[in-house]
Amino acid sequence: MSLYPKFSFNITHRSAVSGARAGLLKTPHGTIETPAFIFCATKGAIKGAFPREMKAAGTQIILSNTYHMMLQPGSELVEKMGGLHKFIGWDGPMLTDSGGYQIFSLGHGSVASEIKGKRVTHRPKTMLKITEEGARFKSYINGQIFLLTPERSLEIQRQLGADLIVVLDECTPFHVDKSYTECSMHLSHRWALRSLAEFQRGNDGRQALYGIIQGGIYEDLRRQGAEFVNHHPFFGHAVGGSLGASKEQMHDIVGLTLKMLDPERPVHLLGIGGISDIFNGVEQGIDTFDCVHPTRLARHGGALVTADHWMRYEGKGGEHINLRNKIYREDSRPIDESCGCHSCQNFSRAYLHHLLKAQEMLALQALTIHNVYFMNELLKNIREAIRTDTLDIQKKKWAGV
Ligand code: GUN
Ligand code: ZN
Repeated sequence: MSLYPKFSFNITHRSAVSGARAGLLKTPHGTIETPAFIFCATKGAIKGAFPREMKAAGTQIILSNTYHMMLQPGSELVEKMGGLHKFIGWDGPMLTDSGGYQIFSLGHGSVASEIKGKRVTHRPKTMLKITEEGARFKSYINGQIFLLTPERSLEIQRQLGADLIVVLDECTPFHVDKSYTECSMHLSHRWALRSLAEFQRGNDGRQALYGIIQGGIYEDLRRQGAEFVNHHPFFGHAVGGSLGASKEQMHDIVGLTLKMLDPERPVHLLGIGGISDIFNGVEQGIDTFDCVHPTRLARHGGALVTADHWMRYEGKGGEHINLRNKIYREDSRPIDESCGCHSCQNFSRAYLHHLLKAQEMLALQALTIHNVYFMNELLKNIREAIRTDTLDIQKKKWAGV
């Protein structure tokens, strides 16, 4: 019997002019139309939005993190409460990341500093040691020491119960050399085999496992990473690690990696969510994306808008406008006249500007809903454009390039 009896991925359209494809990814909690964007409910909540609001704004799938949920409230508790879907009131498809990335990215610590007179919070070093066995780290909540092994990550992800789950890996930092990247990739491969063995041991058909391609900016390492995942029974593939220092480099690395991957399996691009990056990824065959950017940006007063908007109003290439800007103080128009989101249907830029200045929670909620709706519309337009081979036109409209 198949390892993934309740899952399937069917490509319904392949572009004639690029690597783009549109498809249907079936999970036990519903079918996702791809390409799709996955919103981050890191600690089990989309900051500032109810599940029903996320659904109303067109959301198909959200993700949560092993790392955060294991520390608070603990995966055993979530399991006791009936699993993550029930616990957080989201009945649609869900993905959990394995914890590796969060341990490494949050764990290196940051030095307290002053930026423009504002004190930046000091983040202590919580990553302790990485060994063959797993990653040892300190809880940022109470200092308790944890060892996250591939087996434990898979056990936690089983307790949480997301549909799509991911092997434990080391997310190779961008500043390391080739030999570190190579050793790290091989460690990730050994961890991936242990993750897969643990997955197969406890598999009850409700979850599908993704393998991760590491290898940094090195073509030969990415090739080895791609060959590794192709040869093991993962349901899908996720591209992780450093993708270089520029958009051009990311484009090249994603492109060469995708050419080497099994064309029938779904491919996720980890942690990428810029508008032009999404177009580039889609053209190379990426099926799903995730990033905190849309929802985090909202909490800083940023509203995602199409290229003609940000060029017209703020004249710089930021893919968004900032409602804190005083040019919006007396602006009675919505963020975007053509946007169908609840915020654009009801609120003016002047009102949002006021809410931000007055530090009202509603500002963050309203901007979150707009950005979520915007991303879902973007991906809907991309899917349609793949079917009609008009991605170029959409790219110009949404990303200005
Ligand atoms: N999120 C962003 N990059 C990565 C990565 O390399 N690994 C994992 N597990 N998650 C990520
Ligand atoms: Zn809107």
